Amino acid sequence: MEHTPERPLRVAILISGRGSNMQALVRAIAAERLPVQVCTVLSNRADAAGLDWARAQGLPAESLSHRDYDSRDAFDAALLARLDALAPDVILLAGFMRVLGSDFVRHFDGRIINIHPSLLPAFPGLHTHQQALAQGVQWHGCTVHFVTPVLDHGPIIAQGAIPVLGGDTPDDLAARLLPVEHQIYVQVLRWLAQGRVSLYDDGRVEVSDAPHRAWAGATIFHLQDCHEHE
Ligand code: GAR
Repeated sequence: MEHTPERPLRVAILISGRGSNMQALVRAIAAERLPVQVCTVLSNRADAAGLDWARAQGLPAESLSHRDYDSRDAFDAALLARLDALAPDVILLAGFMRVLGSDFVRHFDGRIINIHPSLLPAFPGLHTHQQALAQGVQWHGCTVHFVTPVLDHGPIIAQGAIPVLGGDTPDDLAARLLPVEHQIYVQVLRWLAQGRVSLYDDGRVEVSDAPHRAWAGATIFHLQDCHEHE
């Protein structure tokens, strides 16, 4: 369904820290007047810097600390109840560093989207830039995908790639990748608002009228550099 200002896409954005991906999404919504309504920016950490930024923008921002719950299931149940009350169309995980249990994921089946800093299915989990360097890959990247009960392993909506350069450290990769993360997450949000993303039962994702879903901006820059040096 294509969303309109009268019938905006309702999104809940979940963060755990600085929230730069959340900021990129919110900035794009404002700058491009996307028909998207942020019903909450929610963090599992009350001290997440992203919450202050969201509040300063006048957005609803709140914390639900996992430390206040005895078990993972109890936290998931509280988060589920809070989100159900807000009735979001989609839940965007933007640096949300809690693993969500399978009951939670099934409840919102096909409506949770995550950004992960690797070219999945390579390097799920933590320390993805370190993992990429340890494997000696020549390309690294990020993935926006639907969340399934298997960690960092869902149907892929978009990917962005950057070259790994000699001497790169994990911090170098993280810094070069972050703007690409922002680009692809914003692109996916546009597609969602336009009602162009379909997830099929077999796990296939189709984005109508978007034959090239891989974000090659960084790649193209790199190839131009190579040609210049030939
Ligand atoms: C981003 O690099 C995001 O891809 C990663 O955390 C960072 C959050 O930064 N997410 C994960 O590792 C999830 N597995 P941000 O708070 O500035 O958006």
